[in-house]
Amino acid sequence: MPERAAQLTSSLAGEFPQRNIKVISGDCNLSLQDGLDWIRNEGGSRSGPHLGQTLAFLDPDSLELEWDTVVRLANWQMSNIRPTFSRRNRIELLILFPTGPMRRQLPQTPKAEASEQKKRIVDRLFGSPDWRFIYEAQRQEVIKGEESWLYYVDLYRLQLSRLGYKYTAAIEVKNTRNVVLYHMIFATSNDTGQKIMKTLLTKAREVLPIMVDEEKARRGALGPRLFEESEVDLERIKANPGRWAKLFADPPVPFDPENPKMSATSREKMESHPQFPIF
Ligand SMILES: C[S@@+](CC[C@H](N)C(=O)[O-])C[C@H]1O[C@@H](n2cnc3c(N)ncnc32)[C@H](O)[C@@H]1O
Repeated sequence: MPERAAQLTSSLAGEFPQRNIKVISGDCNLSLQDGLDWIRNEGGSRSGPHLGQTLAFLDPDSLELEWDTVVRLANWQMSNIRPTFSRRNRIELLILFPTGPMRRQLPQTPKAEASEQKKRIVDRLFGSPDWRFIYEAQRQEVIKGEESWLYYVDLYRLQLSRLGYKYTAAIEVKNTRNVVLYHMIFATSNDTGQKIMKTLLTKAREVLPIMVDEEKARRGALGPRLFEESEVDLERIKANPGRWAKLFADPPVPFDPENPKMSATSREKMESHPQFPIF
């Protein structure tokens, strides 16, 4: 919304006066090019931000991020056909894949089925109707439970590989009732990017217990709360940080409706937590 974008522009300018920040209003699926053009025009023919490492953080509320938008980011100036300029590395992507909204919006029983209109929205999210095989297998209860949602994560990661991303990984984000909210998917073609991601995850596991302690001290001093969770839940997170910051980095495998093997993502999960049954 233009008025919200204007508010954000002025609050960011106040908070970070030294930085060059641009807020663009409108549906990002339509206005993405305006943003990319802005970055391009911040630099010259041989140097500038358009040539450097670039990260796109895509944080949708629900199913609104269209695959075409991801494709346009992935292909930005990566073609050799008469480019005005070309980039050496693809834009790196950090995408919150909406596992939770998909679960809420796709009924999973033989008797209930998502409308064709809803399915078209999911087609646009994946850029292909292949997800429908997974959905049908869920509805027919060939695959079920929390793990069955990981097939969608693998499919999304496969789609990213097909765009040319060499490495993809997913971090699971769940609430304290153990329900998966979303998967944070990282895509890069850069060896260093992959290393940084693994290091960050290790760090997340170290930082999580420290954050819990800080939160408890704040509560003791009646300071503002950072988290909604109860003290008991915070203790649970602190006791097992590896479980709350989990990385899936095995290469994703395609879903075969005739032979639904475990997804790479769920396989890794079982290896790291053999005490949890898969189905
Ligand atoms: C999960 S929030 C992002 C939060 C943000 N990353 C932060 O840390 O504050 C998703 C935002 O995307 C906006 N949004 C939803 N659909 C959009 C679209 N098609 N284009 C641009 N923004 C959209 C929503 O209004 C909401 O503000």
